[in-house]
Amino acid sequence: MQKSAMLYEGKAKKIYDTDDQNCFWVEYKDDATAFNGVKKGTIVDKGIINNKMSAMMFKYLEGKGIETHFVELLNDREQIVRRLDMMPLEVVVRNIVAGSLSKRVGKDEGYVLASTVLELYYKDDSLGDPMVNETHAQAMGWASIEEVETMKKIALRVNEEMAKLTAKAGITLVDYKLEFGKANGKIFLGDEISPDTCRFWDTETKEKLDKDRFRRDLGKVEEAYVEVYSRLKEAVENA
Ligand code: TMP
Ligand code: ASP
Repeated sequence: MQKSAMLYEGKAKKIYDTDDQNCFWVEYKDDATAFNGVKKGTIVDKGIINNKMSAMMFKYLEGKGIETHFVELLNDREQIVRRLDMMPLEVVVRNIVAGSLSKRVGKDEGYVLASTVLELYYKDDSLGDPMVNETHAQAMGWASIEEVETMKKIALRVNEEMAKLTAKAGITLVDYKLEFGKANGKIFLGDEISPDTCRFWDTETKEKLDKDRFRRDLGKVEEAYVEVYSRLKEAVENA
């Protein structure tokens, strides 16, 4: 496959066109942002970890019957994905209270939710990615009620599989963000699954092993990304 013009540069990835009309070429960057781009920095070799980890997680989920955009890992920083028409929504899955939910409901981070919480956000940095619901999505033409139902169903399946896998790695899956898109009318899981988009805590020590180390200036950011990837890789290999 041939890489052609860059179509889009996001905060963490560049998307290129290819000579295959069904595929995009993705390049993962080391750039890190938080708080909708307000905080900016670099996490050395993050692009390598996130590229390899996303490829590994998507492949693992495919093996569990979940359809994703992943096609092929090319090298340290690049992969081929299915060309999706992305829905401008983020689906956040929460097992444990942290981050914005902690602030919103006044519960301490670490409170174990009695059941999984699913939230929808409208992807727009200039608006700070506001939380919305499925009736907004339908009314604004972002996704139909049925499509939101499908995304939620897939998100819960992802959660079952991810929680089992992270448990094997001694990691608590606190919360994470998923994005979906359509190809030929069908919904696929897209974007990435990495320490940028998930909260991972060491189950024993409760140490944060994700982008919160960057957001909150906790130090040892690179080390956390490497640690989480190597533990999950071992869990996948032994699964
Ligand atoms: P939050 O607690 O800030 O709402 O974040 C919930 C989860 O979603 C957390 O794992 C981080 C992830 N996330 C993203 O991947 N991108 C985003 O823009 C935001 C706000 C959160
Ligand atoms: N990805 C978002 C941003 O750039 C938010 C975050 O991950 O905290 O700014």
